Amino acid sequence: LAILFAVSEIAPWVKTGGLGDVAGALPAALRRRRQDVRVLVPAYPALRQAFPDAQLVAELPSLAPALPPCRLLAADGNGLPLLLLDCPELYDRPGSPYLDAAGRNQPDNDRRFGLLSRVAARLGQAGSPLGWQPDIVHLHDWQSALAAAYLHYEGGAASVLTVHNIAFPGNFGREAIAALGLPAQAWSFDAAEYYGQFSFLKAGLQFSTRLTTVSPTYAAEILNETLGYGLAPLLRYRRSKLSGILNGIESDVWNPAKDPALTSPYDARRLNAKRPNKAALQVQLGLEVNDELPLLGVVSRLTEQKGLDLLLALGEGIATHLPAQLALLGSGDPTLEAGFRVLAERFPGRIACVFGFNETLAHRIEAGADIFVMPSRFEPCGLNQMYSLRYGTPPLVRATGGLADTVVDCNEETLADNTANGFVFAEPTAHALWLTLERATRTWRERSVWRRLQQNGMRGDRSWRRAADDYLALYERAVAERRQELA
Ligand code: ADP
Ligand code: GLC
Repeated sequence: LAILFAVSEIAPWVKTGGLGDVAGALPAALRRRRQDVRVLVPAYPALRQAFPDAQLVAELPSLAPALPPCRLLAADGNGLPLLLLDCPELYDRPGSPYLDAAGRNQPDNDRRFGLLSRVAARLGQAGSPLGWQPDIVHLHDWQSALAAAYLHYEGGAASVLTVHNIAFPGNFGREAIAALGLPAQAWSFDAAEYYGQFSFLKAGLQFSTRLTTVSPTYAAEILNETLGYGLAPLLRYRRSKLSGILNGIESDVWNPAKDPALTSPYDARRLNAKRPNKAALQVQLGLEVNDELPLLGVVSRLTEQKGLDLLLALGEGIATHLPAQLALLGSGDPTLEAGFRVLAERFPGRIACVFGFNETLAHRIEAGADIFVMPSRFEPCGLNQMYSLRYGTPPLVRATGGLADTVVDCNEETLADNTANGFVFAEPTAHALWLTLERATRTWRERSVWRRLQQNGMRGDRSWRRAADDYLALYERAVAERRQELA
């Protein structure tokens, strides 16, 4: 199959979270399945700098009243064909792909991601300016979702929209519909109108041939009002087209036996070699070097979604009563950052918080911590718990989305059948989190049980191979359904 990915970030060049990881890894896994995959991504400064020799392959005129002309540059991203969408007026800006220096959404994100969507759809239509036309256009989140609307009104390839996070609808004013070259009937409750706004995500959910999310549990959860963010009725209506495919992880990048960020590489048979990584992390972060205290690890965006306010509320109890150490790496909400900063100042040696984005430290926390904490209110998939499983650092998670699909709570039964690999709690409350922290740290002191938990987690196959096969089967179905629709 010829497959075009349209994404707004791609690791390792531009990444704000798991979407970037998926955009870098899934297309590569599909290429290993001998599929003709190319990835369309805005030519942000980081990508222009990474690929100074990118080849001009197409020049496109303005495709809608508000969209400037643009160019496509081809580059080889470690074996993955990239199509850099070059439009300096929209993408040549420093910093985050979405936000300005003050942390606000860029004011013209409708044009910036309208162009990404418009060009993705154009490549999927007859007379593609590349001379290459995909059978499938694979869209990700609101930033490329609008492509499905163009393909719906104008014809073209089958589309698959993957929802990585339904909490971001990509809402704009009504006037953007005409400005982006969509027909007036797109402003309707059964098209792109969403509570008086024009929603890119809703348009994608309405018009994509197939819909997926990144875990089976999240696919079920977004059918309900609480996690559906107003889109549950539409999702229920399109239920027969919706499925959940669990993400994989990049087994080469996240491999404790070969991780260049670690002081001491290890694997399931050499778990003693994990310990020096804890000491090294304690030294690096200014924590007391002590192997008698369990070390909790967190690597996360600091947002409401991740439930870290629950952990913050327990800070004092963790440092003095549990007692345990905490190593947190994160960035985001200034109020949460301030809260964790104060906590670290109150309990030096016990609690260390680093704010910012730091890949190397993320790897060191995965390896050096004893328990990895993710109290998410919702979590479409979650990659960090899968990294921590692979690193023999049992995750402690709330039962939601992909966390529920990957972490098996430790109890007598699951220990007996060797499925136990972490700790799970249900209620999104500090109290429930506390009880589970107590349970986990108690279990940590039972060394032989702990070793079994670690080994159970390290054993599972979490590579992208399985997911790539599931996506391939889905693409085939989508192509057949689209053919019928157009016939
Ligand atoms: P989300 O996409 O919702 O943020 P995921 O668990 O899917 O959650 O993916 C998060 C990804 O971003 C992981 O690869 C994680 O290691 C990385 N990450 C998050 N915050 C940081 C940070 N402050 N520094 C380095 N990596 C981070
Ligand atoms: C989103 C979700 C996260 C998921 C990631 C990749 O950012 O918040 O749970 O793992 O997308 O699919």
